Amino acid sequence: SVENTISVGLLTVSDRCFRGLTKDTSGICIRELINGGSHLKATVIVEDCVPDEIDAISTILTKWSDVLNVNLIFTLGGTGFSQRDVTPEATKAIIERDAPGLSFAMIKMSLEITPLAMLSRPVCGIRKQTLIINLPGSPKAVKECFQMVVPSLQHAVDLIT
Ligand code: MTE
Repeated sequence: SVENTISVGLLTVSDRCFRGLTKDTSGICIRELINGGSHLKATVIVEDCVPDEIDAISTILTKWSDVLNVNLIFTLGGTGFSQRDVTPEATKAIIERDAPGLSFAMIKMSLEITPLAMLSRPVCGIRKQTLIINLPGSPKAVKECFQMVVPSLQHAVDLIT
């Protein structure tokens, strides 16, 4: 293929992971999928973990979009209904264009797996040349949702860049 490798940032959003109380199993899971388990020509170039705080999340998303120019960012976790789940709000605050089709596709397909998918509030959108996708937090959900969107990602990145 003539296309360049897609650069990817992985941002784990979790108070417990940030404090070192749990291992970032979702981060490990999606890194393995990207670095070999999928047909996507992509490389993880940056990874971080932040607590469930709007400013901490949006600061990293802005930095990775504006300074590192990564093609694609996945956030992991913080999309649910608990008081601390603010990843969608942090994403909404910094995207320039909404990409609701990606969110719709993930929810539609996830509902065929579990009715609890209706409790995820993923936001997807574009900032400059970067596509940002919110994924739910569990390794199971990360894997499922990644596989739902992956067939469209090469084309999405081609259109944005
Ligand atoms: N989507 C898929 N495909 N598979 C899942 O197992 N879990 C759901 C939902 N979406 C799930 C899923 C559950 S149990 C919750 S609480 C929400 O995602 C929000 O998860 P989060 O708060 O970790 O982001």
